[in-house]
Parts: sequence; C-alpha cells; structure tokens
Amino acid sequence: MNVLLFAPEYRPNLSSMIRSAEFYGLDKVYIYDKNKLMLPPTHSKKARADMAHMAKVWTAGAIDHIEIIKIEEDIKDFLANYEGRKVATLVDEKAKHLNAVQFESNDLLIFGSEKEGLPSDVLPLIDQGVYIPAIGHTPCLNVAVTFGIVLHQALKTLES
Ligand SMILES: C[S@@+](CC[C@H](N)C(=O)[O-])C[C@H]1O[C@@H](n2cnc3c(N)ncnc32)[C@H](O)[C@@H]1O
Repeated sequence: MNVLLFAPEYRPNLSSMIRSAEFYGLDKVYIYDKNKLMLPPTHSKKARADMAHMAKVWTAGAIDHIEIIKIEEDIKDFLANYEGRKVATLVDEKAKHLNAVQFESNDLLIFGSEKEGLPSDVLPLIDQGVYIPAIGHTPCLNVAVTFGIVLHQALKTLES
C-alpha cells in the first residue's frame, strides 16, 4: 500500500498526512509537490533549520521515520508506469463508496489538492475512484481527514 499526495497546498495538511502515514506504519509517502511545499528556503541556514524544526513539530516527529519521495518526473508518466492500481479519492458521488472498496496491497492511494482536487487530464489514468459518502450537508472533507479515514479503511480491508 502506497500513498500519493497530489499537489497539496497547505503545510498543516501535508504534515498531518505524513504523520498519519507514519502512524499507520507506511514506510514512504510519494508527493507531487507542484506547490513547492517541500522546497527548503534558500536565503539562510537559519530559515532551513527553522523549516526542518517545524516539519518535526508539525508531524510529531514522524518525518524522521518515513521516506518522502518527491516525484520529479512528469506526474502522468509516473502514474502511467506505476505497477499497482491507482485508487483516487474523489469528491464524486458516482465513484465507488468507500465501504464497498476491496483494497489491494499494491494500491497507490491518491489524495487531491485542497482547492482543485485532481485535474481532469489525470483522471483517465485512475483505475478506481473512491468516495466517502456525506451524511450531512457539507460538500466535502478536509484532505487530511480523508487521508486518515481512507488509509484506516484500506488497511482494515487488507487484514480481512
Ligand atoms: C477539499 S477536496 C477537493 C475539492 C475539489 N473542489 C473537488 O471537487 O475535488 C480535497 C481532496 O480531499 C479528498 N476528499 C475530500 N472529501 C472527500 C470525499 N467525500 N470522498 C473522497 N475524497 C474526498 C479528495 O482527495 C480531494 O481531492
């Protein structure tokens, strides 16, 4: 089971997802860092040290125990060449509802950007869309909350 953070926009969400991934025992996180959240500041040594310190604080230390793999190649090439299923979380009622999905050990779980979700040109590369059905009126969940719910469910179905 691997995860891909697709162009996250906010460091608090990015940190929460890294923290949850490590908490659930994943050894790596793929990130398509379109918004350059992982780029260390270039202007001073102190700024770089501050960023490293904040990364530890915000991830509760998880950052020291998990590999962060930045995707440097074209994201569409990465997805096309990925060997397992690409399973994307989508704010789309027509996607398969979370409780009906049987996850597989080589799945790549994909989480979209806070504002944009996943771009339309990436959708044809997805094997399975997954939706967490809303009961209330709020249109969608925070991406880091989605991450925890889906990873928990995916690991649970793999056990059974
Ligand atoms: C705030 S949502 C994106 C909203 C965007 N306007 C859209 O329609 O895709 C950010 C990410 O959180 C995840 N997400 C949020 N709510 C979800 C839900 N109910 N089911 C599945 N994924 C969800 C998806 O990964 C989504 O790309």
